[in-house]
Amino acid sequence: MRTWHKIIFGDCRNMKEIDRPVHLMVTSPPYYNAPFDYPGLFNNYDEYLGLMRDLAKELRRVLAPGRIACFVTQDVRIKGKLYPVAADIVRIMMEEGFIYRDRIIWRKPEGYIRISRRSGVQIQHPYPMYFYPDNIFEEILILQNGKYRYPKINPSFKSSQINLREFNEKKWYLSVWDITNVLPFKGRLEEGIAAFPEEIPKRLIKLFTFVGETVLDPFLGSGTTMKVAKELGRNSYGYEIDLELKPIILEKIGYSPFPLSDDTIEIIEREDSKRLRTSLQKRVAKQRSVTKAKSRT
Ligand SMILES: C[S@@+](CC[C@H](N)C(=O)[O-])C[C@H]1O[C@@H](n2cnc3c(N)ncnc32)[C@H](O)[C@@H]1O
Repeated sequence: MRTWHKIIFGDCRNMKEIDRPVHLMVTSPPYYNAPFDYPGLFNNYDEYLGLMRDLAKELRRVLAPGRIACFVTQDVRIKGKLYPVAADIVRIMMEEGFIYRDRIIWRKPEGYIRISRRSGVQIQHPYPMYFYPDNIFEEILILQNGKYRYPKINPSFKSSQINLREFNEKKWYLSVWDITNVLPFKGRLEEGIAAFPEEIPKRLIKLFTFVGETVLDPFLGSGTTMKVAKELGRNSYGYEIDLELKPIILEKIGYSPFPLSDDTIEIIEREDSKRLRTSLQKRVAKQRSVTKAKSRT
């Protein structure tokens, strides 16, 4: 199946390059100002919610009627305070007119916790009020752009048929999906990017689109959604604000100036793209040196 893919480096608040209907959005937005991944990216939580509101408006415009938007996300803890990111995204999307259709819990293996083990506090203090659980899940929020008109099934849908053996064996039918997260091995292509495992877009794309349809990821990161869409014979749009990620995305989706397949890949670098990782890293390094200097005095 010949597919096309458009990578736009720019802010997804404005997706003016989308000129064809989108049939599914799969994304994981930045985790607000998560200390590990995005310290200081937003000035405050309201600014973060503003981004989600602008995105919801754009999604309403570009998603075909009845089609699905999936957010892979979780609440974020900063300095002990939990920000209800998942609930706020659902609320914002509903205010924009989307139907809250489902919520899948993505359960990660217990053995590896990326951020912090909080439960140790209870072991140090085996008394009430010292309970801080370790987090091993994220949410996959599934929202729908109005009512879907189910088409009459005909032989041309054969290639989009769900493999019921895979569906049953891997328990896709449950509202809890056990999937191993991307482990941050040194030298890995996604090192330093909060990438999701390919299994997540793979399931969502197969469950919510037909072969030849179009998938959007407005927070493309390392390009996982685009890679999987391409492999599954779907077209894709991807927005990413951080130009620093360009070589990583191109490698992940197998871009070549002399392509072996008929798939087309178009890259647009908009004025509003940024070299975010560099400036972020600089800011973090600066913060660290200030903290160090303070601790010396
Ligand atoms: C959690 S990561 C996405 C990871 C991706 N799912 C993957 O598997 O690699 C979120 C990405 O959103 C990008 N981003 C943040 N704000 C953005 C904006 N306004 N427009 C487009 N991209 C943005 C960040 O640079 C980051 O790469």
